[in-house]
Amino acid sequence: MELCEFTEGKARIKVPKFEKVTAKTPVFYNPKMAFSRDISVTVMNALKIKDSWKVLDGLSGSGIRGIRYSMETGGEVFLNDHNPAAVRLIAENLKLNSLEATVTKSDFNHVYGKYEVVDIDPFGSPVKFLDGAFRLLKNNSYLFLTATDTSALTGAHRDSCRRKYDAIPLKSSFAHELGVRILIGKVVRNAAKYNFALRPILSYTKEHFIRTYFEIKYGKEKTNNALANIGFAFNCKCGYREVTHEFNSKCPNCNEKLSYSHPIWVSKIKDSEFVTECVKKYESSEFLSKKPLELLKTLQREIDAPLFYDIHELTHIYKTKIPKTEELIKRLGDIGFDASATHFSPVSVKTNATIKDVLRCLDE
Ligand SMILES: C[S@@+](CC[C@H](N)C(=O)[O-])C[C@H]1O[C@@H](n2cnc3c(N)ncnc32)[C@H](O)[C@@H]1O
Ligand SMILES: [Zn+2]
Repeated sequence: MELCEFTEGKARIKVPKFEKVTAKTPVFYNPKMAFSRDISVTVMNALKIKDSWKVLDGLSGSGIRGIRYSMETGGEVFLNDHNPAAVRLIAENLKLNSLEATVTKSDFNHVYGKYEVVDIDPFGSPVKFLDGAFRLLKNNSYLFLTATDTSALTGAHRDSCRRKYDAIPLKSSFAHELGVRILIGKVVRNAAKYNFALRPILSYTKEHFIRTYFEIKYGKEKTNNALANIGFAFNCKCGYREVTHEFNSKCPNCNEKLSYSHPIWVSKIKDSEFVTECVKKYESSEFLSKKPLELLKTLQREIDAPLFYDIHELTHIYKTKIPKTEELIKRLGDIGFDASATHFSPVSVKTNATIKDVLRCLDE
């Protein structure tokens, strides 16, 4: 197998030579996902991970994620992949970086032990690894996960979403946010049977993937409270959108029949103080690339009002002129609402204003 070498963060990594990134390569490595790994390293550091913590890179591929965790954060790192070629390469890559770590060649669902952090970074959906992950986690631990099956989560493949996430998606201008909420909803519901209460501390979507970081607490009461954040998202042709705990059939704005998505996470998808800590950690590091910091800063400014208004969609419905995103945010602020840009879309605003108040801020 002919290898080529990359440098990422503090790590060096050898991977099979490739023309194009594909899941069929003998050992998977996608240099573009350095973006996700830069943020993950920062999340670890913002969690103030202790040296005694055990961190599992459960679907490790070349080992890059675990190796970076080992070199750029605290904790004892464990790496696993079921592919024998990946496991051989992980061992080589550990040596290349003068590291020692436990490497296993196991199906993720057969890995054993208890960990403070479990990272699941699969091809496609993480759902088939959830039960396995909760066996490995405990009170006061963290689950990091990636989903790359955004077509299921955003409503393009509705049946696939129903099978995997047990949820009805909705094609809409805010489908990417809904995808994040369907994913979180599924993970929270899956965790509940183990009396684990999950809370997302950072979530974002970029291109073809969603990444969410969860804090995990053990306890029946806490789990009931987490489940209370599962509900519905509604959308109407008039631009009305809302998340609620209960079903609604008619639009309160225009009386038309509503479309809906269910079950979804209706609460916060991040912890604002934690995101601020991530920005600080990111800014103090010299090894990380610039782009992920821009995303973290956008997330820091983004208000946590569920669902967002796509300006082009509204101006199309109401045949008005298109205001600049910043202008609409300012106008909403001037009439007393919270409003911000959103990383989900550059031509959209998040706000606690209702559709009626947003329409007041559009031009004639
Ligand atoms: C997207 S790649 C991981 C990429 C890696 N985390 C990174 O940051 O570069 C997914 C990996 O999961 C492994 N995998 C898939 N199913 C698995 C299973 N059931 N148990 C263990 N490993 C599995 C594949 O061999 C592949 O290396
Ligand atoms: Zn309506």
